[in-house]
Amino acid sequence: MELATETVTHVKHWTDSLFSFRTSRPDSLRFRSGEFLMLGLIPGADKDAQQKPLMRAYSIASPEWSEELEFYSIKVPNGALTSQLQHVEPGDKILLKTKPVGTLLLDALLPGERLWLFATGTGIAPFAAILRDPETYRKYDKIIVTHTCREVAELNYGKHLIHSMQHDDTLLELLGKDSLDKLVYYPNTTREHSTNTGRITTLIRNKTVFSDLSLPGISPATDRAMICGSKEFNIEMRSLLEGFDLQEGSRSDPKQFVLEKAFIE
Ligand code: A2P
Repeated sequence: MELATETVTHVKHWTDSLFSFRTSRPDSLRFRSGEFLMLGLIPGADKDAQQKPLMRAYSIASPEWSEELEFYSIKVPNGALTSQLQHVEPGDKILLKTKPVGTLLLDALLPGERLWLFATGTGIAPFAAILRDPETYRKYDKIIVTHTCREVAELNYGKHLIHSMQHDDTLLELLGKDSLDKLVYYPNTTREHSTNTGRITTLIRNKTVFSDLSLPGISPATDRAMICGSKEFNIEMRSLLEGFDLQEGSRSDPKQFVLEKAFIE
């Protein structure tokens, strides 16, 4: 499999445990918004030259038309890769496998009216790509992105994304004039009080999210969904959506929802 060496162009630390970075994009890399690839660091000069680089799966947070690649990462305490990766600076080199894959694809869903993007933690990364893809706004009348984090500061990457989209004239031109009128951002926190306090699963069960957003609920006739978070979150969301009679689909068999684990070491 082809390994590309790319250059880090930008790094931003959002909290003590979260950071994002951008890199140059290999000419040969083609991907669809929502996919992930394997990313790693070049083994240090002090190490055995034959040593294989440590690679981990990372969702591509930038949309498929973007000239650069963006990634959003947790800093795992003592994590084999992220304990080093968190120190990257512009000009540093990283390795990418140029074979993206993934299930969070618009064409794995049947046509519908509303698209729900349910994320916890760094699970918002693939949705950062999907939210900046014109196809999303061509296919849906309303796109609702929910982001559940423990603390308010952990929402900052998502908040900044939505805010910067609203002020990026070039992006708005590309997405279509009224696209952002379709976008609903619903952040919520579980261990610190905020506008929407509680797990999204709870806010769905007690219908708070539907009354907050003036929506009738979730139905297989109108609603489509993508889920990206921890294993437990994905399992719980899957069963919630199945309770609304939505079925899990794939690219070869599109249905009403898809899910993927947000990657951790
Ligand atoms: P909570 O604080 O109640 O555990 P983590 O940092 O553990 O990956 O969690 C990220 C966010 O996802 C937290 O706000 C956490 O809530 C929430 N979360 C974790 N598991 C679930 C689940 N099964 N259903 C809904 N939310 C969850």
